[in-house]
Amino acid sequence: MEENVTPELGAEQMLEAAHAARPEGKKVFVKTYGCQMNVYDSQRMSDALAADGYAPTDRIEEADLVLLNTCHIREKAAEKVYSELGRIRQLKEERGRDGRETVVGVAGCVAQAEGREILRRAPAVDLVIGPQTYHRLPAVVRRALGGEKIVETDYAIEDKFEHLPAPQKKAVRSRGVTAFLTVQEGCDKFCTFCVVPYTRGAEVSRPVAQIVAEAERLAAAGVREVTLLGQNVNAWHGEGADGREWGLGELLFRLAEIPGLGRLRYTTSHPRDMDDALIAAHRDLDKLMPYLHLPVQAGSDRILKAMNRKHTGDDYRRLIDRIRKARPDIAMSGDFIVGFPGETDADFEETMRLVRDVTYAQAFSFKYSPRPGTPGADLDDQVPEGVKDERLQALQALLTEQQRAFAAALVGRTMDVLLEKPGRQAGQRVGRSPWLQPVIVDEKAGEIGDIVSVRIKEAGTNSLFSEPVS
Ligand code: 5AD
Ligand code: SF4
Repeated sequence: MEENVTPELGAEQMLEAAHAARPEGKKVFVKTYGCQMNVYDSQRMSDALAADGYAPTDRIEEADLVLLNTCHIREKAAEKVYSELGRIRQLKEERGRDGRETVVGVAGCVAQAEGREILRRAPAVDLVIGPQTYHRLPAVVRRALGGEKIVETDYAIEDKFEHLPAPQKKAVRSRGVTAFLTVQEGCDKFCTFCVVPYTRGAEVSRPVAQIVAEAERLAAAGVREVTLLGQNVNAWHGEGADGREWGLGELLFRLAEIPGLGRLRYTTSHPRDMDDALIAAHRDLDKLMPYLHLPVQAGSDRILKAMNRKHTGDDYRRLIDRIRKARPDIAMSGDFIVGFPGETDADFEETMRLVRDVTYAQAFSFKYSPRPGTPGADLDDQVPEGVKDERLQALQALLTEQQRAFAAALVGRTMDVLLEKPGRQAGQRVGRSPWLQPVIVDEKAGEIGDIVSVRIKEAGTNSLFSEPVS
């Protein structure tokens, strides 16, 4: 008889085997709000739960565990979570009548900021877990299954990244050819409008070796483009392989050496932390995409000061000049807030002037929303909603015009596109330009994961349309 030799299984294969052996296993539904870091965190939570037999589902009705990964940056985001929790309560009751238990958890920044208050306002919730304690999630879920109501929002002393499982190869494959990688978390800048320093805590950088190992793993699983994430990603620092202190620029040079990774990006940056090495990386690294999200928030020096941004409008303009000198084709992106307390028409005009000076390929703009616990919320002189509305409209009209002009200028040009997924129509694929725009490409151009050269023939509202280059 043939001997049945089972090769030793690595942790990852054992996980996959466990899944295979449990086709009727439990299911987890994760809904993600807010920023890309939440997207990354949600994936890592799913990976951590996989070890406990939870398979991800995108159908909430069949989920044994429902997790909302929440955002607290503006008021509406938190309110959306509470109304979603109302709907989930009904679902939980319906499932309960069928004898099926549903554990409901709230993670993310609303969890961190509101803690126990969530249990009071939303009785369907079983567990509340803040971003610093995700590595404890499987244990917390087990306790919730035992009937406990749990609030885990302390700042863990242990490094959560060390205790979270690395991204699983199988999961990575199903997630596609682009991936996020958190390298830095938290913020010490304390802009007076922002909750992040309170919800995500002080700035923490992950060590170089951990980041390189994760990036190599992603590349080995077929990922072609990695976006480094951090609330203040260009404040990242760590001891390099050469024993020197590295900044994000040096880290990017190191990551560019990893075979298979064709493209690197990073977000979100603060103007005060754009150092020479990072600008040099934009000049020298072909793999670093010519796109920079560098929020300025406002154009008036008086408002920038009140926001505690620690730079002026002209500091920002000079910085953009230096970056464009290093990388002339770089696309600028930004965030803007209109109606910060005390903002006059003249202050707002300064924002419009700055936008005209810089010209953005893309941008996000928001009405100021007072966040409890931040200094801005206590300022007199809050701007009336109607005024905020008008300013937002004017700003968005200008930004949309710039975005269109940027896209239109690409028509007729040849560029590299990373093919990411099938298109909506047969025979098409959707890729991304170096400047982050979706590009519709003929499927004959290449396979998903390929970086192909195409010519842009038309710029639509949200996408570019391409033709093959002969
Ligand atoms: N009100 C409005 N917008 C805000 N942002 C952060 N806090 C607030 C707030 N209280 C915006 C900033 C930031 C982006 C992520 O969200 O523009 O860069
Ligand atoms: Fe918030 Fe300012 Fe920190 Fe950005 S830099 S996360 S806006 S406090």
